[in-house]
Amino acid sequence: MPMSELETNDQGHVRLIDLPVVSDPRGDLTFVEGGRHVPFAIQRVYYLYNVPVDAERGGHAHLELEQVVFALSGSFRLKIDDGHQQSEYWLRDPRKGLYINRMIWREMDSFSQGAVCMVLASKPYDEADYIRDHGKFTNLVRGIS
Ligand code: TYD
Repeated sequence: MPMSELETNDQGHVRLIDLPVVSDPRGDLTFVEGGRHVPFAIQRVYYLYNVPVDAERGGHAHLELEQVVFALSGSFRLKIDDGHQQSEYWLRDPRKGLYINRMIWREMDSFSQGAVCMVLASKPYDEADYIRDHGKFTNLVRGIS
């Protein structure tokens, strides 16, 4: 089933996405098209770099934002919490991204030296879309206001 036909209006899921690669003796080329390889129109791209090995990033969820996170270079850990269960992913392959839909708490750490984390996002930056309090996030997911 093409990615664009997948239900994207749900919440609380992550999944790994494999991007295409075109390899020849000159090297590897990977590409990504919004609505085709990721299940949303890409409205923003940002990247993290020069991240100290002991730094922690993330520590929030989003009310509406969907993202796909890649390690373009190096590696790092992504800790995921859907409000009920925790999981973790080590990203280290620039062809593999982690799709994170709305209402997922994420934390990132253990960045290798020189790691570059690229994020494709479904909306422009909006601080009002962030949930930065873990207790509030858990209550929202569990329907406790
Ligand atoms: P934040 O999303 O908290 O970073 P991370 O989750 O990677 O730890 O953002 C850190 C700061 O950067 C915050 O002040 C908001 C700002 N920012 C923007 O202005 N635009 C953006 O697209 C992003 C992602 C962050």
